[in-house]
Amino acid sequence: MDQFIELERLSKSYRMAGEELQILHQISLSVPSGQYLSVIGPSGSGKSTLMHILGCLDVPSQGRYVLDGRDLTGLSEAALSQVRRQSIGFIFQSFNLLPSLNAVENVSLPLMYQGIPVTQQKERAEAALERVGLRERRHHRPHQLSGGQQQRVAIARALVADAPLILADEPTGNLDSHSGEEILDLFAELNAEGRTFLVITHDPAVASRSQRIVAIHDGTVVEDRKVTA
Ligand SMILES: Nc1ncnc2c1ncn2[C@@H]1O[C@H](COP(=O)(O)OP(=O)(O)O)[C@@H](O)[C@H]1O
Ligand SMILES: [Mg+2]
Repeated sequence: MDQFIELERLSKSYRMAGEELQILHQISLSVPSGQYLSVIGPSGSGKSTLMHILGCLDVPSQGRYVLDGRDLTGLSEAALSQVRRQSIGFIFQSFNLLPSLNAVENVSLPLMYQGIPVTQQKERAEAALERVGLRERRHHRPHQLSGGQQQRVAIARALVADAPLILADEPTGNLDSHSGEEILDLFAELNAEGRTFLVITHDPAVASRSQRIVAIHDGTVVEDRKVTA
């Protein structure tokens, strides 16, 4: 089986006031290409820490992270940001849009960092906004959009560079249930197009929309099961 993500005995600890604080304990996990997986667990169990490592925003203290056949262990900061830009789209609970930029400009940012010419940036950003149903609002700034619309802009930003892996941390946490459902409908469509989705949530209803649920508790995988429809 073609594994897109492979974690081998991955651990993470922080040094706090001279003490070693271990957050993730030897997590091993394989995720095939195209899977829609959710990671659940109570607050403080290490979900965001895991997502930061998967997203190359942080590095493990021990163990191996292989993404799309490439061992990322020991890569330089520059090499990791290259991987991040090419392969990973991020969606956060608080959307993380820049307030002074309109939707097209926010969505263009990943392409700007890749050095794509400005006219192409705009074309691709507009296409991504169209994909998430926001063509009409493309010149709006975040404060002129509802929460659900802001999250759609963030999804368009995650899609615009054609990242094969989308990581979402509590993507519906700041949304009312109707907007949350719309976002999850969109995830299902985008996953059906072949993207691998890893969604972090403490909400069982959100997790139930995925194909597989991995539960972590105190930094350890305690359950790993397929979702039956
Ligand atoms: N940079 C850091 N330094 C020290 N401790 C941290 C750091 N980031 C997270 N932690 C700790 O790691 C634990 C797990 O945090 P986190 O991954 O955010 O959990 P979750 O997302 O499941 O709520 C918490 O106890 C948190 O305080
Ligand atoms: Mg968290």
